[in-house]
Amino acid sequence: MKKEFDKIVRIRRSVRRYKKTDINDDDVKDSILHASLAPNSSNLQLWEFYHVTSEKLMNKISEACFKQPAARTANQFVVIVTRKDLWNKRRIFNINTIKNKTLNASDKSLKNRDLALKYYKYLIPTIYREFFGLLGYIRYINAMIIGLFRPIYRQVTNSDMRVVAHKSSALAAQNFMLSMTSKGYDTCPMEGFDSLRVKRILSLPYSSEINMVISCGIRDDNGVYGKQIRVPFDDIYFKR
Ligand SMILES: Cc1cc2nc3c(=O)[nH]c(=O)nc-3n(C[C@H](O)[C@H](O)[C@H](O)COP(=O)(O)O)c2cc1C
Repeated sequence: MKKEFDKIVRIRRSVRRYKKTDINDDDVKDSILHASLAPNSSNLQLWEFYHVTSEKLMNKISEACFKQPAARTANQFVVIVTRKDLWNKRRIFNINTIKNKTLNASDKSLKNRDLALKYYKYLIPTIYREFFGLLGYIRYINAMIIGLFRPIYRQVTNSDMRVVAHKSSALAAQNFMLSMTSKGYDTCPMEGFDSLRVKRILSLPYSSEINMVISCGIRDDNGVYGKQIRVPFDDIYFKR
């Protein structure tokens, strides 16, 4: 298992040119399922995955990605969309799931259930609710004042919450790419795209955000641009 994981991590590379060989839709769908199992903030799952296989949409997405080689030669795309705007819907999903799951629970799990319900009923709305960005600033000032006296969660502005949602989406993206590698496929994560156009192509609401467009396929002989380059490990590893 340890060896397998090491292999998968090392084989994965950002591939810029793919073979013309088709990849299997169900395999990609299964990797998207793996993506959805990624850890995510408060288990709100503020993400959606768009699996693009139609030639017409593929061409449009490639154009929105400036026809860069990783997009132009792709066999399929997976677009990871961050849906911070769905926080309330997902919060209610969690509340209902917890209530249904613990119908015949023991006393100890009832205590945990009550804590979890309080979390979704009161804490989540306190940090996610917005009113033209104003509530975020009020939360921020509040956190600064309370933070003078005790540790406090400080990432509470509207843009902080966007970062929170994008972090989880990026973890899903990595689950997806490693899963694809494990099946013998290749990927390239991209942020070089026109986000407004990608949203229009996929008929997404204005409030959604594109986290990453990931092109998929099988690497061509010249598909990887050279050896993997990283700064020396000692420059980034600190043991305290
Ligand atoms: C968030 C993100 C955005 C990226 N955007 C692009 C992109 O638009 N086009 C591209 O060719 N590569 C893109 N990459 C791939 C990086 O260039 C690549 O991961 C990096 O050079 C390291 O190479 P490796 O993935 O092969 O290890 C992106 C990677 C990440 C994580």
